[in-house]
Amino acid sequence: MEVGIDGIEIWTGKLELDLPGTFASAKGEDPGKYTEGLGLYTSSLPDAYEDIVTMAANAAHRLLRRKNVQPADIGRIDVATESAFDNSKPVSTYVAGCLDQVFDGEFRHANKGERKFACVSGTQALDDAHNWIRARRNRARAALIIATDTALYARDDPGEATQGGGAVAMLVDEDPDLVSFGTPQGIGSVDETDFLKPNQQFPSVDGKRSMQVYLARMREALQDFARNGGNTHPENFTLVPFHTPFPGMVRKAAALGFRHCVRDTEVEEQLADEIGRQPRPEAFDQQETYFEAIKSYTEELRHTSTYQEWYERTVEPTLCISREVGNWYTGSVHVARAAGLQEALVANRNLAGTSLLVASYGSGAQAEIHAETVQPGWREEIRQLNIDEQLDSRYELSFEEYEAIHDVHNHDESTDMEPFTTPHGEFVFDGWGRMGEREYSYVE
Ligand code: CAA
Repeated sequence: MEVGIDGIEIWTGKLELDLPGTFASAKGEDPGKYTEGLGLYTSSLPDAYEDIVTMAANAAHRLLRRKNVQPADIGRIDVATESAFDNSKPVSTYVAGCLDQVFDGEFRHANKGERKFACVSGTQALDDAHNWIRARRNRARAALIIATDTALYARDDPGEATQGGGAVAMLVDEDPDLVSFGTPQGIGSVDETDFLKPNQQFPSVDGKRSMQVYLARMREALQDFARNGGNTHPENFTLVPFHTPFPGMVRKAAALGFRHCVRDTEVEEQLADEIGRQPRPEAFDQQETYFEAIKSYTEELRHTSTYQEWYERTVEPTLCISREVGNWYTGSVHVARAAGLQEALVANRNLAGTSLLVASYGSGAQAEIHAETVQPGWREEIRQLNIDEQLDSRYELSFEEYEAIHDVHNHDESTDMEPFTTPHGEFVFDGWGRMGEREYSYVE
């Protein structure tokens, strides 16, 4: 039995902030920091009537309609988010409440929950659904998994440059149309305090340290994956989607990952004439000298045509949506997978039957690595995505408008502001109920 992602939909926040233009100039920064350093051009931000529930429900609504799935076909709804506004009532209940407004039938017998472990929780929710189906507790029903976040930072935090907001809805089922999940799994997990939200909406972040923690946990997950039967040869994968807080982070992770994976393979041998063999720790008396040697080897490796050709083919395509939307936390690695497949469709690559290596990460901190097999129906599934049209129709914010909308998405502040866009055929936030709950309606 194959289990995996049967369908996917992406819903972006309706507003757009031009980073090298509007944001960098207001901050007095060089645009190159965004385009070349971080690898970002625009961020997607939610409008005043949008939040994690509306974006999740809109993505899910589109997905269920397109796949012709009825409420009774869904046995599980899990929402992964790190932007929740309630410590008790899960976001999935709000999403089901929205969907109840537009579907005949109910999600009454669907098990609902919320998954939390920073950005890795979307992948964890997929894993839970996978196990639930393999355990045969699904009664022939599918799981609806949604990763949704408003990834905003406090004003003037360095993370402000990497913000974003959007949702990814995925249907996990037997005999999937898009990708099936492999069994080997690698985990790298350590208690870290690099990025956290102790009962606050905007995170406390040690940005530079968070990057080191990302790389360290990824390496451990890769080692764990290889030890558990995962094939890590880079030529085994047609795409390698990473958690993408910003493309520059993935650039660093990909080089370290490639170096790690080609050690003791024919690729290292072939590269030896050009840049030598990889330094080995046992050849050094001092750890520091070894670190310097491995750092300069990695730099040389990045400039070889072998590495660059691999990177352009397997990693670069996964970044093309992220460059235009910023970080979506839990949704980010799922956006990367969809982006890579979308680029492959445009390039007319034949990916059916090939493998993807999916590298997820959440601060706090945990990395997870697993492989997926692309299914014969992938082209049809990816062809249905309308993310490019959504991106093109975003409203472009001035800096003053950005400052105003930023406060709307801080749950600790009460703001009342007119939206910049007009909702149409979607769920909207429309106020507070008597117990402090958020209320939603569907706008035709
Ligand atoms: N031209 C070209 N490149 C430039 C440049 C210019 N004019 N100016 C700067 N750069 C480069 C810098 O050299 C740097 O690249 P390298 O790291 O390769 O040297 C890059 O642009 C960024 O510049 P800075 O380091 O000066 O940027 P910063 O100090 O403002 O901070 C950051 C960057 C730490 C990532 C910050 O944006 C941040 O805190 N982000 C949030 C935390 C984050 O995303 N961490 C990632 C790992 S944790 C994770 O993945 C979980 C998650 O989703 C949050």
